[in-house]
Amino acid sequence: MEIVLSGIRSTGNLHLGNYFGAMKNFVRMQEESNCFFFIADYHSLTTHPTPENLFDTTKQVLVEYLACGIDPEKCTLYRQSDIPEIPELYLLLNMNAYMGELERCTTFKDKARKQPNNVNSGLLTYPVLMAADILIHRALKVPVGKDQEQHLEMTRNFAARFNRMYNVDYFPEPTAYNFGQELVKIPGLDGSGKMGKSEGNAVNLADEPEVIRKKVMRAVTDAGPTVPNQEMVESIKNLFTLLKVVSTSETVTFFTEKYNDCSIRYGDLKKQLAEDIINFTTPIRERIIELKSDNDYLRKVINQGAEKSRVSATKTINEVREIIGFRKF
Ligand code: TRP
Repeated sequence: MEIVLSGIRSTGNLHLGNYFGAMKNFVRMQEESNCFFFIADYHSLTTHPTPENLFDTTKQVLVEYLACGIDPEKCTLYRQSDIPEIPELYLLLNMNAYMGELERCTTFKDKARKQPNNVNSGLLTYPVLMAADILIHRALKVPVGKDQEQHLEMTRNFAARFNRMYNVDYFPEPTAYNFGQELVKIPGLDGSGKMGKSEGNAVNLADEPEVIRKKVMRAVTDAGPTVPNQEMVESIKNLFTLLKVVSTSETVTFFTEKYNDCSIRYGDLKKQLAEDIINFTTPIRERIIELKSDNDYLRKVINQGAEKSRVSATKTINEVREIIGFRKF
């Protein structure tokens, strides 16, 4: 069975865009593939979180994944820092990762610019750790966004280099997988582009109704149509796209007609949109709250995930050690 693997940054909350983007696809994929989903908590150390913050964000990600329907019985859901074979593979791969290629990596250059006082070597070798995450399970398909494609390419280079160096055909070359047709792009509230983490642009799954109302009411609009059937500007199209995702088709038709005959009041549209988003996210939010206080269950999930993940991680690391020449006496 095809091995699919995805790492989740342990920062921030999932928003509606994540839900209709990656999450829905993950939930579907766990039915048909051998899926590994993990929280990349080692990676988040590059930005020096406090211990409380590291733990809280990791827990939040775990809880939100579960609340969205990731089923630990159907996939392998784990925390990176529970798998000691990952840092071991990272160390081994580092011996074949070169300064030049690491320094040329665009995400490194971006991060170095954003945090000039903390250009640590974890930042430089971030792609090597990511390669270790992927190669430890010899995964083939890695669902990631455009911003991660260079990392995937580096992973393929490291894999091929290892194979060449030891004259083996051991690591497969993983490819970035972007869901193709299945990917629904959810626009943000700031009038342009897709939903992202920037302030006020995203509705988080864990947002309370009052927060959602405030965010939606502040969404960018224009002055309104002045002639019938006027072409919509992007910010208005975006509100309609959101409406299509969370509201009934009657609601969509109602506001489309109002727009087309120039009688629309954006305030009414936003009020309706906010309520429909709230209806949609409420069961997820309630599940998040419930899971957050169920530490027994979370402990069970995380232990079971570590155990399952380590089966294939130990196998890989033993084989890699053997190939490299760390042989048993
Ligand atoms: N770098 C990824 C991101 O920022 C997260 C990640 C870490 C990852 N390790 C991974 C994604 C392995 C896919 C596979 O989104």
